[in-house]
Amino acid sequence: MARGKPIYEGKAKILYEGPEPGTLIQFFKDDATAFNGERHAILEGKGVLNNRISEFIMTEIERIGIPTHFIKRINMREQLIRAVEIVPLEVVVRNVAAGSLCKRFGLTEGEALPRSIVEFYLKDDKLGDPMVSEDHITAFSWANPQEIDDMMAYALRVNDFLSGLFSAVGIRLIDFKLEFGRQYEGEMMRLILADEISPDNCRLWDSKTNEIMDKDRFRKDLGGVVEGYREVAKRLGIWRDSDERSDTNGPVLVASNDGNNR
Ligand code: TMP
Ligand code: ASP
Repeated sequence: MARGKPIYEGKAKILYEGPEPGTLIQFFKDDATAFNGERHAILEGKGVLNNRISEFIMTEIERIGIPTHFIKRINMREQLIRAVEIVPLEVVVRNVAAGSLCKRFGLTEGEALPRSIVEFYLKDDKLGDPMVSEDHITAFSWANPQEIDDMMAYALRVNDFLSGLFSAVGIRLIDFKLEFGRQYEGEMMRLILADEISPDNCRLWDSKTNEIMDKDRFRKDLGGVVEGYREVAKRLGIWRDSDERSDTNGPVLVASNDGNNR
């Protein structure tokens, strides 16, 4: 599938013009960054794993009736997506205390939360993605009240669904970040899930040992980052041991098991 001109390069992905109007091609890089880009590394094979994991999760989420930008995976590093106007917010859902929540409120990492918590952050690297209130969001027109309600409802449904999906394969979903976009069809506009869902933007701990299997391995300099992501993919049933020759050739992809590349 021919990709067009690059139209946006982020820290972990590049967006290209798609083959048809209203579509884009999302390319997954091996770059990892943390602390707002201060730490940077190339982790060989990360992009391939995130492309595959995000394909799987977005497809499962569509199945439960939540619209997403995902159309189909094209190859190891690229997927065809719907073009959207990104809502400039990061929507974080937390089940267990970790990361910035611990710093902000003096909690211990791993402490259970009284209930799942949804937070909004402004997507603005120059400002360090500050946390914002619903009143900030509506006052500055980053989203309207209906969109805030929709994002919260979708985020909590995604949380329930993914918590179960990961729990079934021995993984605890500690927290994660979502992004949403506006898709325009003539006069109509709908909010859909965008970006990616992968170990780059989730905290995933082994249910028995609490071993970290996500990007915190990079943030905390624990090593074994790609190995952690690969273990997540294996447990989800989208990666096989026989693919471990990836050590020399880069990860090898397992064919999509439903054959239905939506
Ligand atoms: P935090 O504890 O650092 O606020 O992160 C909460 C969740 O959001 C965690 O799963 C990691 C994810 N996240 C991103 O996807 N991008 C980011 O830039 C940050 C800071 C966090
Ligand atoms: N994605 C952010 C960055 O590069 C932060 C993070 O994920 O921790 O810098």
